[in-house]
Amino acid sequence: MNFTPRFPNFLHGGDYNPDQWLDRPDILDRDVELMQAAHVNCVSVGIFSWARLEPEEGVYDFEWLDQVIDRLWKGGIHVILATPSGARPAWMAQKYPEVLRVNDHYQRYHFGARHNHCLTSPVYRRKVREMDTKLAERYAHHPAVIMWHLSNELSGSCWCPLCQEAWRGWLKDKYGTLDKLNDAWWTSFWAHRYTDWSQVEAPGGLGETSTNGMYIDWRRFSTHQCKTFMMAERDAVQAVNPDLLCTANLMERFWDYDYFDLAEGMDVVSWDSYPEWHSGDDVARAAEFAMNHDMMRSYKDQPFFLMESTPSQVNWKPVNKLKRPGMHLLSSMQALAHGSQSVMYFQWRKGRGAAEQFHGAVVDHDGRGDTRVFRDVTSVGKALEALQPLYGLEKRKAEVCIIYDWSNWWAIDYAQTGQKDNMKYFDSVNMHYRSLWERGVNVDFRDTRDCTDLSGYKLVICPMLFMLRESFARKLRAFTENGGTLLVTYFSGVVDETGNAWLGGAPYGLIDVLGVRATELDAIHPHDRQGLVLDGKTYKITELCEIPEMHGAQTLGTYAEDFYGGMACLTKHTFGKGQAYYLAAKVEQAGLDAIYGAIADELALTTALQDALPCGVIATERGGAVFLQNYSGAVQQVTLVGSYIDMITGEKVSGTFEMPVNGVMVLAEG
Ligand code: GAL
Repeated sequence: MNFTPRFPNFLHGGDYNPDQWLDRPDILDRDVELMQAAHVNCVSVGIFSWARLEPEEGVYDFEWLDQVIDRLWKGGIHVILATPSGARPAWMAQKYPEVLRVNDHYQRYHFGARHNHCLTSPVYRRKVREMDTKLAERYAHHPAVIMWHLSNELSGSCWCPLCQEAWRGWLKDKYGTLDKLNDAWWTSFWAHRYTDWSQVEAPGGLGETSTNGMYIDWRRFSTHQCKTFMMAERDAVQAVNPDLLCTANLMERFWDYDYFDLAEGMDVVSWDSYPEWHSGDDVARAAEFAMNHDMMRSYKDQPFFLMESTPSQVNWKPVNKLKRPGMHLLSSMQALAHGSQSVMYFQWRKGRGAAEQFHGAVVDHDGRGDTRVFRDVTSVGKALEALQPLYGLEKRKAEVCIIYDWSNWWAIDYAQTGQKDNMKYFDSVNMHYRSLWERGVNVDFRDTRDCTDLSGYKLVICPMLFMLRESFARKLRAFTENGGTLLVTYFSGVVDETGNAWLGGAPYGLIDVLGVRATELDAIHPHDRQGLVLDGKTYKITELCEIPEMHGAQTLGTYAEDFYGGMACLTKHTFGKGQAYYLAAKVEQAGLDAIYGAIADELALTTALQDALPCGVIATERGGAVFLQNYSGAVQQVTLVGSYIDMITGEKVSGTFEMPVNGVMVLAEG
């Protein structure tokens, strides 16, 4: 898939803020030279440039940007052009306070910071449209410009009167009548019934905090406001040139908005990846970020862009470690292996002042092109050029799909049960993913929307699918009946899409599919002892255990301790032409590895490589090539049966060889 037809290449570059250096033309000239030397071919420009582009209301200054884009283009550097709506100029905040966000304690922010405007404000939407139209008219047909970068890391909610009105309007559209809304939110509890729409306010700090269904809807509404804001930007720029595609940069573990829903409003997904390497277990970190990449690929079921990453260190973590030698190439290649079309950075050049003056950059305050970081970046640029044959090639169709659903995430976090404020949905999902990732199995993520199609998968995994919509329960049923393998865990099928509990037993709609009914949910302390006894081994269980009642399933593993010791903890049941596993508790990684090892063998799941690899050496397939990655923190001896060419170095690879710490190879059969 080619999202940048004007420049069909892997993109390499990053956020470029020349508006911070307009009094230093020498620096701008030097930047183009340095970009060429670093094998950079594209930069993202204008992300926070509004105050330079419209210094006074209605007074536009595009000359500096004309010069920057022309100078870059002359140097062979392409441009991802941003709309500057991520931060507004001071004059706008002063003249139109409604553009400023209001928090859930009903305090309006003053001018400052960024990403804190009201996404509903008609004034802000009009100002953004005017700016976007002007930018598009000037640059949407410029040969250097290959994509739009809409706003920046869209986030948050606003509690201003305009948002409250929009919220009530959204609810009226959704529910039609107050009776329906009262039922959905179970408002007979604590005398919370509404008798007039005007009584309904957004949940939060000073108001309603105990109505789960309302909170879940508030998150859906916030997603909707953001999506319509973003789509209005897309409409504005594409009215001028419909062929120039739009992306918005997403974030990891981002809870505020439903990314499957939001992604529908952009042409291509991009994201900002900031793993904390060298701060504990790099294999676990790599498993987490592999999953993030696969999620980004999954939102639109197509390749994505890595829009930001740091070439060295960030400046906003408690401990800002440098990337150790090799890690920059390794982590960049990981993105590619999972479907990225780019490796981009925050930021090209360090600014002299303000909050990000010490954030890692390709070019440091010394302005040099002979630093360790610069060499690391150059090696990525060269690797991307060498890997260009993979550009049009995607990952092999996945046989495994994990269900990850935002409404479910919100519902879990608002439900007051189990481990309060510590249900760890994302991390638990990541553990299931990790077992498959370590085996080199490709995995897709899907949510529970009606458009989700499970039919092509061999294995569908539902970790903690607490909120189970009726239609999705039917889908899982049909999937299993038709020969699929389903794995459902504890805490699934408990509530409907409003967050209200299903009556008649959990997992809703799946008891006969699983051959098990979930009864009580036990929460255990870190010092409690519990385990899964499976094939003569005991695997540690933490946090949550569900007590099953058997309805025809076969017991594969049992609880080790306590009053439910000896009862089933892992079961299997045949349903139609398929089979359904039920895992009743949160089992440690080694336990999941054992479970998925057996399932992978049984289903003969396709893996990136057949060869057994040392612990922490991971193989990931893309376009038929195998990205071999060493996250183990040690030199590893690898033995391969086949012979390959490393596409990065062009060298032959076969037999037994050593992979250095943070080593990476891209193996093509040769
Ligand atoms: C991102 C943001 C960038 C920059 C970067 C620093 O979240 O989009 O503008 O602030 O973080 O790591």
